[in-house]
Amino acid sequence: AASVEHTFIVNQTKMTRLCKETLVTVVNGQLPGPTIEVTEGDSVTVHVVNRSPYNVTIHWHGVKQFQNCWADGVPMITQCPITPNKNFTYQFDVIGQEGTLWWHAHVPGLRATLHGAFIIRPRHRAKSYPFPKPYKEIPVIIGDWWEKDLAEMAMNMTRSIFTSYASASTVNGLVGDLFNCSGVPKEGYVLDVEPGKTYLLRIINAGLFSEFYLKIAGHKFTVVAADANYVSPFTTDVIAITPGETIDALLLADASPGRYYMGAVPNQAPLPDTQTPEYATRGMVHYKVSQSASSDTTTVSLSQGVGGGGYRGQSEDAPVVPMMPDIHDTITSYYFHSNLTSLRQKGHLPVQQEVNEHLFIVLGLGTICKHGHQSCKRGNSTEDMLVATMNNVSYQHPEATTTPLLEAHYYHTGCNTTTEELPKRPPRFYNFTDEALIPFGPKEMRLEPTYKATLVRRFKHGDVVEIVFQSTGILQGDSNPMHLHGHDMMVLAQGIGNYDPLKDVAKYNLVNPPAKNTVVAPNLGWVAIRFVANNPGVWFMHCHYEFHLSMGMAAVFIVEDGPTMDTSLPPPPVNFPTCSHDISLMPK
Ligand code: C2O
Repeated sequence: AASVEHTFIVNQTKMTRLCKETLVTVVNGQLPGPTIEVTEGDSVTVHVVNRSPYNVTIHWHGVKQFQNCWADGVPMITQCPITPNKNFTYQFDVIGQEGTLWWHAHVPGLRATLHGAFIIRPRHRAKSYPFPKPYKEIPVIIGDWWEKDLAEMAMNMTRSIFTSYASASTVNGLVGDLFNCSGVPKEGYVLDVEPGKTYLLRIINAGLFSEFYLKIAGHKFTVVAADANYVSPFTTDVIAITPGETIDALLLADASPGRYYMGAVPNQAPLPDTQTPEYATRGMVHYKVSQSASSDTTTVSLSQGVGGGGYRGQSEDAPVVPMMPDIHDTITSYYFHSNLTSLRQKGHLPVQQEVNEHLFIVLGLGTICKHGHQSCKRGNSTEDMLVATMNNVSYQHPEATTTPLLEAHYYHTGCNTTTEELPKRPPRFYNFTDEALIPFGPKEMRLEPTYKATLVRRFKHGDVVEIVFQSTGILQGDSNPMHLHGHDMMVLAQGIGNYDPLKDVAKYNLVNPPAKNTVVAPNLGWVAIRFVANNPGVWFMHCHYEFHLSMGMAAVFIVEDGPTMDTSLPPPPVNFPTCSHDISLMPK
């Protein structure tokens, strides 16, 4: 195994999109940030140098960090944030995982621009991919472009002030040609392909607020992996991907040579305020024609110049446009996600083990008094603040002046953060028809009054945990991409409406459930998962929609040590920094 080393300079820089310069916080001046490429078994060292005015941490989304919770990168849960002008070095091994993951800042808002791909290739040549070797591998990162100040937006979200939508969506950092002024380069992201070749697209949704549909006109995808776990291959013309998910798909360049739009459209509210309702963004798949064929068209396209739609020396047939799903269509995502099954079969999966912990987690919204006391009059919207909840409690992130939860756990010291057990809640029935019809706005919603607490749930080492995530209609029709750090979850089943413990257990896939780090509780539905709590440490579990997370849809899972050294959390790395007491997670 090799060691892979990177230096990440976090800095603010101006970038031009939509005809305007915007100050963005990025790594090494790039958007998306640098791709980390490793072979399974490698050790990774990343030196993070923070030259931005914000506190940051970097989270290696989906990397299991087995016995190494210290490198997970969540402020005040696993580490003190890296304050401006400070450095921090992450060190971890990548073991037992192959495929596409990503890294992002685990700081409110800033992950919109602080992110990049994390690619893990198979260790043994002989083993290689369980599909024909692709000609090229291409990261396709779907994201947002924000003209607003992200740190400020995030701060407002925690106070439930919604003023912001993304200005545009992006493919690999570019907004594409649907906007009147698309910045440089004008055409957006272009994927050059050679006829007959197969490309492995490593697709990542780095967006803050939206699930996306991705299509390429005239082409189909063969999905081969999700969240760095191989799936039984299936063919589809549309990829559905929620924030936090990664999908690997093969693209065979088998259409007649030409230009084909790659469209990405968010499938639910809130929508970016785009001028073009059919797509949020588009890039292009562009067939390279052989030298002899292109030589006599070169002059033509040059003379057409930038404004004339000239496109890399090709003939000027209009590019083919894909038919995108309707933006309010959520069932396409439901079917896409039901098509995911693990390539590994029964026997390799611990789903046959007996479950010793059952959790039913209701994802919802509630209200609290703006000023902290619980005595405001119910439904008085001037006193109430909207929060997101799990089992009707809203997660409160530990103050930056305390000790991170992981250290407190490891040293068995109190950490002056008062935690509270994630409440149990039996399945109950939601009247989806009514709730779904209620327009957004605290007055009209029948929200439960609630409060904030640092929710934790402890598991014994080796516990087999089953969780049903139940979404509710008051979530404004959103799905909920639920992400667990440090573990993969097996997705047993999903359904629309209320989970029924008597009937729905029969639908569980105990043969080849897909393993994911981000599972989707569908719009107005539920998802049932299992995971084995075998990675000692303190792990964040949250909705990967930025506004749900900032509003409190989160909890912390503590996995206790097992009886032996290799089932216990090792001590922190040498020189693991402690927090200085004058820091705050939010910029001043
Ligand atoms: Cu990708 Cu806790 O996040």
